[in-house]
Amino acid sequence: MTTDHSSATASIHGTWTKRWTFILAASGSAVGLGNIWKFPYITGENGGSAFVLAYLLCILGIGIPIMIAETMLGRRGRRNPIHTMQDIAHSSGASSFWAIIGVMGTLAGVLILSYYSVIAGWALAYIPKLASGEFNGATGAFANAAFGGEGGFLSDYKMLIMWHSLFTIVTVYVVARGIEAGLEKAVRFLMPALIVLLFVLLIYSAVEGAFAQGFQFLFAFDASKLSWNSALVALGHAFFTLSLGMGSIMAYGAYMPKQDSIGKTITIIAVLDTAIALIAGLVIFPLVFAHGLEPSAGPGLMFISLPLAFGHITGGQVFGSLFFILVAFAAWTSAISLIEPGVAWLIERFGYTRRKAALVLGGSAWVLGIGSVFSFNIWQNYKLMGMFTVFDGLDFLTSNIMLPLGGLLIALFVGWAMKPEMVNDELKMENTKLLSAWWFMLRYVAPSAVAFVFAMGVYDKFAG
Ligand code: PHE
Repeated sequence: MTTDHSSATASIHGTWTKRWTFILAASGSAVGLGNIWKFPYITGENGGSAFVLAYLLCILGIGIPIMIAETMLGRRGRRNPIHTMQDIAHSSGASSFWAIIGVMGTLAGVLILSYYSVIAGWALAYIPKLASGEFNGATGAFANAAFGGEGGFLSDYKMLIMWHSLFTIVTVYVVARGIEAGLEKAVRFLMPALIVLLFVLLIYSAVEGAFAQGFQFLFAFDASKLSWNSALVALGHAFFTLSLGMGSIMAYGAYMPKQDSIGKTITIIAVLDTAIALIAGLVIFPLVFAHGLEPSAGPGLMFISLPLAFGHITGGQVFGSLFFILVAFAAWTSAISLIEPGVAWLIERFGYTRRKAALVLGGSAWVLGIGSVFSFNIWQNYKLMGMFTVFDGLDFLTSNIMLPLGGLLIALFVGWAMKPEMVNDELKMENTKLLSAWWFMLRYVAPSAVAFVFAMGVYDKFAG
């Protein structure tokens, strides 16, 4: 007889004592490069407002219901995502196949970290660049060349590896110490600072940028222009930005106190996360249009457009470096949540120390990350299936395949395989009307929407 862990009241890694800690940690995980770097650039690549609309619908109709389910699973199981899924499946009399959610998610976390820390390294590198005044009075052409041009930032792969390494080290360091110690302080102070600075930039963009054009680009909601592949990118990004479908939120849910309302908490986090992404878009696109840059410039969009703005603001050297410091911090609080599922698993399954577990997973991500570094220079012309560099491939595989599949399985498991009494017990403090709306979304709407967009999007990408 195995023990039924599924009704445990605490995790062996501890329970967060204050209600705020879960909100801070989960929003620290959610708000990161996805909001400030990725959302604007994929919006630019996918044509703007139709994409934004698809993304918002995915957050609302799919992301929030599944995020509630994932958090609930974590708090119910109180263990790492793999064991949590095994335990809950077992006590629901369901197949142990469902542990695949934990396995795939744990792997996805390491894969994402590999390229995430490369991009976070770019943000670190831009701190001294802005501080030096290199961009003072810069033109669009200059910022473009400084980033991706011949002999520009991206071509110096040794430098990129150095920053990637530095970011990996600080991530491993925090995870090794236990996420509670440093994290709580960091998020409590940095998140508000980041928001304030984004607002300062927003004012600048509104005054000096092509604001109306940028606004139009994001919010004209012209649905005619959306391909199925873009819809899949929007879906994948809804998961990515909410840290959803791969166990991070499940792992954090395991440390959440019993008496908190999951529905309320998750809704707050999702709204905050979405607002930050939209503001970042409203900062970046007016600058892009005002300076004749390409909205579809790709992963460099933020690193080209924002230094331009700072180059023209009084005090831009200070504000600019501060901004990239905050972006790096936001990335940091996300990165630690990427390997927390794997770290908790290695500790519980193999008796690793936290330190060893963090080193093993951080080290693996680091090695793989070198491939992403080279994707922007010496390997940029090697393309798998004629379309993917290592970076593109890992991004597509994780955001557009693994996370939506993980999310789909979570919705199916909680909606159909888990004992409803267990679910209702875990969510008993929720408002009953909202709870039944949630059941409906989770059982019917979310899984069919994910499956449909996934199938159409993958078909469009590879065969269309
Ligand atoms: N949500 C983070 C961001 O938007 C990335 C992330 C994805 C973190 C998945 C954890 C898990 O930057």
